[in-house]
Amino acid sequence: MPVTRIVLVAGARPNFMKIAPLMRVLSADPAFEPILVHTGQHYDRNMSGQFFSDLRIPEPRYHLEAGGGSHAVQTAEIMKRIEPVLLKELPKAILVVGDVNSTVAGALVATKLGIEVIHAEAGLRSFDRMMPEEINRIVTDSISDLLLVTEESGRENLLREGVSENRIHVVGNLMIDSLRTHLDQALKSDPGQRLGVREKKFGLVTLHRPANVDDPKQLVEISSALEAISLDLDLYWPVHPRTRTRLIENGITLSERIHLIDPLGYLDFLWAQANAFVILTDSGGVQEESTVLRTPCLTLRDNTERPVTITSGSNRLAGTSKDSILAAWKELLAHPPAGTIPPLWDGKAGERCLEVLRKHFAAPLSD
Ligand code: UD1
Ligand code: UDP
Repeated sequence: MPVTRIVLVAGARPNFMKIAPLMRVLSADPAFEPILVHTGQHYDRNMSGQFFSDLRIPEPRYHLEAGGGSHAVQTAEIMKRIEPVLLKELPKAILVVGDVNSTVAGALVATKLGIEVIHAEAGLRSFDRMMPEEINRIVTDSISDLLLVTEESGRENLLREGVSENRIHVVGNLMIDSLRTHLDQALKSDPGQRLGVREKKFGLVTLHRPANVDDPKQLVEISSALEAISLDLDLYWPVHPRTRTRLIENGITLSERIHLIDPLGYLDFLWAQANAFVILTDSGGVQEESTVLRTPCLTLRDNTERPVTITSGSNRLAGTSKDSILAAWKELLAHPPAGTIPPLWDGKAGERCLEVLRKHFAAPLSD
């Protein structure tokens, strides 16, 4: 049987933990030749390289070094740089993950070259088109040939949008495969002292959504909620580069019980999530990981594209005003959410993806 060549695209921090299990299963199967392309959307060591060593991802065959810029510039740069790679390698398919600009850029170029598009983490919808990721999700799904889904809401959204059922596969959550593979190692490493975390009871913060951090008034509003919560417990905040720039630009300083630190490597951050009393975040992936770790999570947004983390997990929407965040914090203290783990978030999503791909390439869909 001929070997099926698949180009996998990774570019930004949340891509790496989804790509790692896919690279592992595809590399171990002689029926496939996976070719990893790093777009370079994220490039700092603590936003990219660290994850390759923590997650033991092989070196990418291509590094496009596309870097940052406006949405148009960044997306176009990735498209320009990935096209020659696809023309040279002529893969049977491109596999893109998540909802970042690298995802949609890879999918658009591939589909116009007649290369099949496979989207992992398809179907998630926040129904908020002001989020750049929502546009990326809708566009990528609309041109995908195979849609690999993490939770039931994703399947329902795709069916409602007219995607035929035989293209949709609920495979579970690749990000949780990585979590389950690395959790023991992360817990044993016990990096608390190195990270300067002295208290047993602490909160963990991450923020990077443009709607929360690019508008100075909104960033001040959230910061003042964090100030109030830090009266109850110390907060550790690994600051995303986008957010660090905004804090500096706007001269926002925080009390000494809010510890601003650099973005953490994967294992250190897993440790922090597992040991935190509460997580305050606007991250998509952190909502999912905290659900599996059963650490109470307050999502500082008005919506989520990952509803199962609320209906089944320990995640709660806290909104983005000081009052709504503090109300959610009080509610969490009074009634800590326990939560259960969503179906198929069991560490075997990579294997289920492989099974879907094997069947698909043995007997491709014709409609
Ligand atoms: C991107 C994704 C977002 C994802 C987030 C994860 C899009 C549209 N957004 O947002 O969905 O949740 O990554 O972290 O794809 N920067 C650095 N060093 C880096 C990377 C970025 O300094 O290694 C700075 C640059 O100034 C850059 C800015 O951060 O311009 C924003 O980076 P970008 O990738 O455009 O968007 P994110 O906010 O990181
Ligand atoms: N993460 C990390 N270090 C940090 C913050 C996040 O390793 O300092 C990991 C986190 O465990 C999860 C992923 O990054 O696996 C989530 O990425 P991010 O929040 O940047 O993006 P999103 O999921 O919102 O797209």
